[in-house]
Amino acid sequence: MELIVARNREDLVKARRAGPVALVPTMGALHEGHRSLIRQARVRADQVVVSIFVNPLQFGPNEDFSRYPRTFEADLDVCRAEGVDVVFHPSVEDMYAPDRQIGISSGEMGRIVEGAFRPGHFDGMLTVVLKLFNLVQPDLAVFGQKDAQQLSLISRMVADLNLPIEVLGAPTVREPDGLALSSRNRYLSEDERRVALSLSRALRAGAAEFAPDAIRRAARAVLDEAGSRLDVDYLALVDPATFAEVSEDHQGVAVLAVAARVGATRLIDNVTLTLN
Ligand code: PAJ
Repeated sequence: MELIVARNREDLVKARRAGPVALVPTMGALHEGHRSLIRQARVRADQVVVSIFVNPLQFGPNEDFSRYPRTFEADLDVCRAEGVDVVFHPSVEDMYAPDRQIGISSGEMGRIVEGAFRPGHFDGMLTVVLKLFNLVQPDLAVFGQKDAQQLSLISRMVADLNLPIEVLGAPTVREPDGLALSSRNRYLSEDERRVALSLSRALRAGAAEFAPDAIRRAARAVLDEAGSRLDVDYLALVDPATFAEVSEDHQGVAVLAVAARVGATRLIDNVTLTLN
């Protein structure tokens, strides 16, 4: 089947076939992490739609919207190789009317942890995801655990707003040395990449402990070893349902999440742990 590139709602309606449709939202610069999401969508649905849209609403004024990597032709090759049916690639003008007024509020959960360092980011992210859901009308949508707070917020939005969509989470794809794949990794020099490895190493050190304080301490010790070249925004051990810090007697699943800057590049990573 030929890959269809849809630019608007009309194109999407024309391309729509009977049977379950899965949506994989992305901002492009596709890598193995995105590919694993597409494969998960492929096994669950008759038609796979990948959206490629760098969403201005979720970038802060001092963030990398204009220099975010845009590799559309290479992305189409990836989608063809993965048997994607439709690539949805709208323009910013088509997505956002100049007089638009209404957006989604990500609530308290969107203002803590990652949200505390990126004001407005999760509101903009949820707004575009809801718009993509309305345009594509998928039966299911696949997101990566790499962006754990994003995944939790999307699940929350689907529950709170009664959206008839199943949300699937897919495990984080890593380089053999542990670095989580990210479109932003291409900005790292060889030296910076070595520093960046502290993130996954810290998470592994935390995951080897059994109680919240010891987990936080072990992870923090590894981050501290990297010295001033690693500028840590946060290290948090949170309940995935709320992203609030867990208490020492917490039982069940917790997410150990970290964000740090290496040079000009900001990286995030996390692992899911079970405490009992
Ligand atoms: P983007 O950063 O392009 O990521 C698209 C999807 O790929 C997200 O669900 C993300 O969690 C997942 N992903 C990224 N790196 C991954 C990895 N190493 N392993 C597994 N999955 C990975 O996230 C966004 O775009 C945007 O916020 C979006 C949801 C498209 C809304 O604009």
